[in-house]
Amino acid sequence: MACGDCKDAWICGACGSPRVESVVCLGDQPLANGLLDDPDQTPVRYPLHLVACSSCFAVQLTRQVPPAVMFGAYPYFSSQSATMTGSARELARRLTAERDLGTGDVVLEVGSNDGYLLRWYAEEGIEAVGVDPARECAEVAAGLGIGTVVDYFGPQVADEYAGVASIVHANNVLAHVPDPATILDGIRRVLRPGGLLVIETPWLVPMINQTQFDVIYHEHRWYWSLAAFGRLCTEAGLYIIDVERLPLHGGSLRIFAVPDGAGGEIRSSVGMITALEQATGLDSPAGLVDFGERVKTRIIELTQWRKGLAAPVAGYGAAAKGTMMLSQIGPVDWVADSTPAKIGRWLPVGDIPIRDPRTLVDEMPPNCVLLAWNFADEIAGKASGYTSRGGALWTTTPVPALVEARNAIPA
Ligand code: TYD
Repeated sequence: MACGDCKDAWICGACGSPRVESVVCLGDQPLANGLLDDPDQTPVRYPLHLVACSSCFAVQLTRQVPPAVMFGAYPYFSSQSATMTGSARELARRLTAERDLGTGDVVLEVGSNDGYLLRWYAEEGIEAVGVDPARECAEVAAGLGIGTVVDYFGPQVADEYAGVASIVHANNVLAHVPDPATILDGIRRVLRPGGLLVIETPWLVPMINQTQFDVIYHEHRWYWSLAAFGRLCTEAGLYIIDVERLPLHGGSLRIFAVPDGAGGEIRSSVGMITALEQATGLDSPAGLVDFGERVKTRIIELTQWRKGLAAPVAGYGAAAKGTMMLSQIGPVDWVADSTPAKIGRWLPVGDIPIRDPRTLVDEMPPNCVLLAWNFADEIAGKASGYTSRGGALWTTTPVPALVEARNAIPA
């Protein structure tokens, strides 16, 4: 592992500063969502090194794998999770009522996936425009009556839809893009006067506090704090007026912003989140370096714990974070996942096949590690046939524990 060798080339992708500090190097890793069709395939590996900018505190990877390589055949369908669709439905209904939306309004979503969010606006007769490069997802959305621009959101799409949108959504997008400043600039142009931007993105504070090292992978170029993200918004002419905490993806923020000059009172939530970030030490590189040290210790502890589980050991959730977890702590025998496009393929680490979740009850491995720990409640419900027969379903995060009884540690 040659971490540090490339250091001279490190430049903050958000503000351009060369004052970039190493947080943790996780070695050369395959793309976390790069599932294999054949276990003999050798995935391409890329360095995975987390750094923080000492000037603007943006936390980021040193290396950007080209988006077309990462997202070309992205087997992720948001509607696969009832947690995601439930949260999306609630948000769409709430904003439709609060903003008095109806026919004549346009809602545009950047990264619209399979229409898991826009479908709820379309149902109310509101014009819904999706933008997403994944063709398979756009086809599913079309079946729900949602038109999708099958492309990356950028200046061209922004020109086409300039000034039309009452609401722009961008959920779990701003962590992935190479150039978030250009995206935010395009979004500001798409908003009509009085329009609202609603962004959801994983939040750096729970990642740090719970030592969530498995959410670090190439598809996540950025790990946002409100402070660092707010700076980018200001530069793009967007003004943050409110922020909410969400349990999704291990702890996310929902950020509301309006175009500069649109006015709007800043809610107290913005100050509260900022204070929490300062208490976590995100306004100094030292807080992040400490996180890097804790990651190394956590990997050693989990590796020992994993070795102590009686075989065979299954996993649940062929999530990107599952690939990263198993790559660090050692493989399981196979992984259960309900996504049809994943079943029958292999994780890009450890020769691990992906099977239908029914296999858990059929084979009753004594232990199963919940890799998609962000969906613990939903998956625990679905796996109750396994646990009620004596199968042990373990989460790893924040500490190893049985999912039903989170304080248990194996002997
Ligand atoms: P996801 O949360 O998207 O994590 P990541 O961002 O790390 O990829 O992945 C969750 C995975 O778990 C996905 O492959 C679908 C799967 N899953 C199930 O198999 N059953 C379920 O009930 C849920 C909620 C998810």
